Amino acid sequence: MSSLQGLRRSLVCSIPTRALRFTTSSTLRANRAIYFEKTGDPSHVLSALTFPSLPAPPSGSVNVRFRLSPINPSDVNVVEGVYPSKPSGTQSLAEGHSLDNSIYVPGNEGLAEVTDVGSGVAGLQRGDWVVLSKQQGGTWASARTIAAEDVVKVPTSLSEVNAATITVGSVVHSYQHCHPHAMLGKPIIQIAARKGWKTLNFVRNRKDIEALKEQLTTLGATQVVTYDDLNDRSLRDKVREWTGGKQPLSLPTGAFIFKNLTTHGFWQSRWYKEKTREEREDLMRVLADLKLQEPAHEVLTIAGKETDEVAGAKVRQAIQKMGEGQYGKKILLRVEQPDD
Ligand SMILES: NC(=O)c1ccc[n+]([C@@H]2O[C@H](COP(=O)([O-])OP(=O)(O)OC[C@H]3O[C@@H](n4cnc5c(N)ncnc54)[C@H](OP(=O)(O)O)[C@@H]3O)[C@@H](O)[C@H]2O)c1
Repeated sequence: MSSLQGLRRSLVCSIPTRALRFTTSSTLRANRAIYFEKTGDPSHVLSALTFPSLPAPPSGSVNVRFRLSPINPSDVNVVEGVYPSKPSGTQSLAEGHSLDNSIYVPGNEGLAEVTDVGSGVAGLQRGDWVVLSKQQGGTWASARTIAAEDVVKVPTSLSEVNAATITVGSVVHSYQHCHPHAMLGKPIIQIAARKGWKTLNFVRNRKDIEALKEQLTTLGATQVVTYDDLNDRSLRDKVREWTGGKQPLSLPTGAFIFKNLTTHGFWQSRWYKEKTREEREDLMRVLADLKLQEPAHEVLTIAGKETDEVAGAKVRQAIQKMGEGQYGKKILLRVEQPDD
């Protein structure tokens, strides 16, 4: 998160002056993608480009139309070049479309609708809702062609917003430590409450802290405290009271050595890679059945009639706002198909 904080200091909105050239055998420019060529400050390196309509998908692939794609902190880190796993570049976003240089389309998460199914694809049909199981599949676009094995069907009973944010929401199955106000934290609070588990939630202090506490306790948080509260020594007694006197979990060295204790992290991208299609779809059904509340969000529409310059500027400005901190809402991109 520190890099997001850094953005706050350094972001300025500038529109790149160099347009990306491409050649294509088709005159139809029916799609748009947000992209970067080189990693760096998102306010400088992100732009938008139009590209031709997608031909029929090749065998084993599907064409999808993205409906909503979140801008997550990890996406910003990918653009900055500080995320541990690197995206792969492409010089073509559609058949017959060819770019001078490799580009990268950010976006790890998002809800898409299947618009065309290639031969040899089982279990998917036009109109299905899917999310990507492949990391950094490039969801900040109006449409893409994707290998069928890299998508997971999600129930259409979900709202668009819940479906678009379900991939990060699925991390709740690891019940990891996270910021309670984050997209990731809120499902954990709700699931814990339904299981009868108590949660102690730490947030950064802010002007409207009481409203945030109210919001999180309504979701099911047992207690919400600020990091500033940690300076108050009486908090120890309160925590003892809230937890029934339980001690914090400690991991003594002896247990690691003599009892072969291990600890490990959780990376949702690895989870998806290691699971079968059935297991991934089962998880989506479990999450849909939980009927979790939609996260606070704001839809940023890149309208079809807008130019690539305006589209790029809108995304850069949105990330600038996020970088200022305490934005409180998930920004969801809706990239419409540009007017022909
Ligand atoms: N392990 C995995 O597989 C996995 C998967 C997905 C996400 N993640 C990670 O989970 C985290 C949350 O992701 P998300 O999509 O839920 O993000 P999000 O909805 O955008 O929320 C970000 C949260 O981080 C808080 N925050 C930012 N800077 C902070 C700081 N310096 N100190 C304390 N809190 C800070 C924000 O609090 P304010 O409201 O105070 O701004 C906000 O609640 C990210 O670090 C992401 O990379 C991990």
